[in-house]
Amino acid sequence: MTRKKLRIGLFGFGVVGQGLYEVLEKTPALHAQIVKICVKDRIKERTIAASHFTFHQHELLYNDVINVIVELIDDAEAAYHIVKTAMENGKAVVSANKKMIAEHLDELIALQQKYQVPFLYEAAVCAGIPVIRNLEEYYDNELIHSISGIVNGSTNYILTKMSETGTDYQEALREAQAAGYAESDPWLDVSGRDAVNKLSILVAHAWGRWIHPDAIVSKGIDELATSDFEIASVHDLKIRLKTFASRKDNRLITYVLPAFTSSNDPAYRVNGVFNGVEIESSFADKHYFSGKGAGAYPTASAVLSDISAISYDYKYEYKKRESGQKLNLDLVFSVNVYFRFTGNVHKVKTYFDEVKALVEREGEYILIGSIPLSKIPYLNGPVIAVPDEILDELAASLNLSETLMPAEV
Ligand code: HSE
Repeated sequence: MTRKKLRIGLFGFGVVGQGLYEVLEKTPALHAQIVKICVKDRIKERTIAASHFTFHQHELLYNDVINVIVELIDDAEAAYHIVKTAMENGKAVVSANKKMIAEHLDELIALQQKYQVPFLYEAAVCAGIPVIRNLEEYYDNELIHSISGIVNGSTNYILTKMSETGTDYQEALREAQAAGYAESDPWLDVSGRDAVNKLSILVAHAWGRWIHPDAIVSKGIDELATSDFEIASVHDLKIRLKTFASRKDNRLITYVLPAFTSSNDPAYRVNGVFNGVEIESSFADKHYFSGKGAGAYPTASAVLSDISAISYDYKYEYKKRESGQKLNLDLVFSVNVYFRFTGNVHKVKTYFDEVKALVEREGEYILIGSIPLSKIPYLNGPVIAVPDEILDELAASLNLSETLMPAEV
């Protein structure tokens, strides 16, 4: 098969855009050339000559010389319009914008089918780990039971720093920003929303069902405190921001929560900016993918792989969407959680199916119990998932702890 010559119009020259520029310079065999780069900021100093840049989108989108648009900007709505116009103009598109893709996936799939152009976005999930291509191709005929793991590099970096070197949350976040891991709006990382966006994309490629990110239950790491890490440490557990999706018959269970993670879980050994995703399927059992989940080169490597795939005219086929299965989101599913809070204990207890431990410390309560996913958004305070294997031990130790008083409620 002959490779197409690629002439690229690049949107964005931030961490990933610059990374891609450098990576392409080092990959001459690909025959991919950046024709023009469109940027927003007219004042910012650039590392390459000004002649490479334009501030006008139409110089790329309506340029007949350009046959691939690579979209690496942070504004999801602007990215959506760029991607849509590019496809309408018959250009192949590569994007890393998980927010834009997760929020518009149905429309984007319809557009690429209408205009018959490739639209690839491997870099949108877990940066350099080729998880989308694997879900799309390798697991095509496999019945996938679950996908779980760590899909946000910044939060994993922050959690690792906080627990291993005692770095304070704000400082660890600053470091993640300085290293180019965090989103321009880091709330997306620490609130869990970035992981939710990625989970929405993973589910679409695993089971052919697009779930709008607003429908996925989540909690971030921004409310965790030293006391939560102390409890983890006493039990030789780590706290990781875990992403979870599983399929049971025609039901899909999805959520993103910080989770106490024991050494039996491969996520326990995923540190710093690394991500790790476990895919469990009927016949292969478990596969674990790990690699750097953020940063210039790992992300650029996935963009490069998509550009290379476009040179062979590769497209996602979304075969699982066409198999016609109707899968419904299960929000009645109950998860075991640790919840630290102040306020009305009676009211909080009504959200739970079962309370295993409830203790009071310095005006705060800690509750361990099982709660339906639909009730988690009502919990005002940090929530940490508790795996079955450590539930009883953790609950018993809280109930017996000398520093914690069983709550009289
Ligand atoms: N902010 C994202 C993360 C970048 O930290 O994972 C990669 O998607």
